[in-house]
Amino acid sequence: MNAYDFTKEPSLLIQGAMESETQELIESLVDRGCMSIGGWEFFTGFLGEARIPAIISRTYQGMVNAAAATAIALTHFSPKAVINQGIGGGHDEGIHRGDLVIGTKVIPMGSEDRPFSGKGEGIHEEKVVLRPIEVHDQETGVTKKVKSFPCDERLIKMAMEGRANLRVIPGILGSADEWNNELDRIELLRQRYGTSVEDMESAAVAQLCLSFGVPFLGIRILSNSIVNGEEFEESVAVDCQKYILERVESFFEL
Ligand code: 5AD
Repeated sequence: MNAYDFTKEPSLLIQGAMESETQELIESLVDRGCMSIGGWEFFTGFLGEARIPAIISRTYQGMVNAAAATAIALTHFSPKAVINQGIGGGHDEGIHRGDLVIGTKVIPMGSEDRPFSGKGEGIHEEKVVLRPIEVHDQETGVTKKVKSFPCDERLIKMAMEGRANLRVIPGILGSADEWNNELDRIELLRQRYGTSVEDMESAAVAQLCLSFGVPFLGIRILSNSIVNGEEFEESVAVDCQKYILERVESFFEL
């Protein structure tokens, strides 16, 4: 039997920033291989009884790392869909630590237009608006400016289906190189963008998927919710990976 060629044959690309967010997925791979490119590791293999070809990528934390890992994966391999998953911090009081948010879209909330104010006139957070991001459009061959990145409708539906021992809620992901702890700022972000949860990678990945024309889904489990006084608990990352493992077969049908 010839070895599966992950550079040419279809696969699911599942990403997580940290070891805690990827270990369960990596350990679940059968016939595991590992390729290291530019310091980023890509674990290849097959998931579940249906032997779904998958690439598990550890992106490391933050937007630039996530963008680099995604660009490498999308040029080196041939994934039919990208799932960026892991832990995040709650913006919505109705969502608690351990709850899972299935992204409906991603807001690059670190991209800001700050209106002019003169010397001594102060800093006005409430006047900030989102600065649209330039994205290359494969269909037209030129760039366009967007204020959010879509999550694939079919992947959202598949992610919401099936039994779950977690609370699963569709919601907007806010993403930037930021960890917000000021309750007034979180409230402002929530009013401005309708965010349910924040993270530090999903917008970078979603942006590249839009450029490359590859279906994208962002999924976050709340590891902390400062709006509810719920402190950081990293171990919930395992539940998110288990949830995804139960759905890889349907994701791959896309
Ligand atoms: N704000 C931003 N990122 C968070 N993460 C978990 N909680 C938060 C939060 N409240 C995720 C990020 C990053 C790492 C610090 O954990 O995506 O990878």
